[in-house]
Amino acid sequence: MTTGYFFPHRHILGIDNLTADDIHHILTTAESFKEISSRPIKKVPTLRGNTIINLFFEPSTRTRLSFEVAAKRMSADTFNISASTSSATKGETLIDTARNIAAMNPDTIVIRHSCSGAPHMLTRYVDAAVINAGDGTHEHPSQGLLDMLTVREKKGRLDGLKVAIIGDILHSRVAHSGILGFTKMGSEVFVYGPSTLIPKGLDHLGATVCSSLNEVVEDADVVMTLRIQKERQNDSLLPSFREYARKFGVTRNVIALAKPDALVMHPGPINRGIELMPDVADGSRSVILDQVTNGVAVRMAMLYLVMGNT
Ligand code: CP
Repeated sequence: MTTGYFFPHRHILGIDNLTADDIHHILTTAESFKEISSRPIKKVPTLRGNTIINLFFEPSTRTRLSFEVAAKRMSADTFNISASTSSATKGETLIDTARNIAAMNPDTIVIRHSCSGAPHMLTRYVDAAVINAGDGTHEHPSQGLLDMLTVREKKGRLDGLKVAIIGDILHSRVAHSGILGFTKMGSEVFVYGPSTLIPKGLDHLGATVCSSLNEVVEDADVVMTLRIQKERQNDSLLPSFREYARKFGVTRNVIALAKPDALVMHPGPINRGIELMPDVADGSRSVILDQVTNGVAVRMAMLYLVMGNT
């Protein structure tokens, strides 16, 4: 862990609010927790007596499970609510849901919601620490942090790297958090995708928009492909999936343009054969499952730090 540093945030709502020192500290804390997951008894008493509620209004496999695994490995009591089994199906508003959860006095609420800003709104109604597990098209900070941890672990650094992000940048909270995080840590971020799925103003975030797949991948240290988000698409923004795969899909030939030791990343779930070909997803450069492993360590660090530990 970083000596002489105090984590100043009550909530983790986005990478946007974090400084490079904060990110460095979260990653270093995560590294220190990582070995707990390889012990025969994968449990430490660090968060014993703390109550963590996972409030997921959108589907999730990796994020929800790894927040739960992270909390349990630190001995916290965890409770999961999903939209389909909550009283949201009966018309209860998010504010009423938040007030009722707050009345049960949890220490931390982890929330995923389809509305950008929902976690920020939640902080106004609860005393608990709030962690954003993905809000609409806005941010997915735990994903950005686990991506940075994976790259730092494999490359030994984040500064001076070329990070290529390919796909639906417009709808991707992963891309937004990734661009903010990698640029804060000194990487150069290049993006490419269908012109209809590239938002304006990316240069203000420090990303460079490329005009071809070859350009974005050439000499990259990291090639991150994004999931085509069928649930957030307006059909007119996207070519057919077959066309998308032909023009933007990352194949073995495309990856050959990157540095020989380039990392292939994807946040999951993968649309195999559309944005990423199976032989690349499962190939020797892929660190996709390392991302998932690191997700547990990063979320242990996030839970630990928002609960007032440094
Ligand atoms: N990467 C990610 O957020 O995956 P899930 O939707 O499965 O949580």
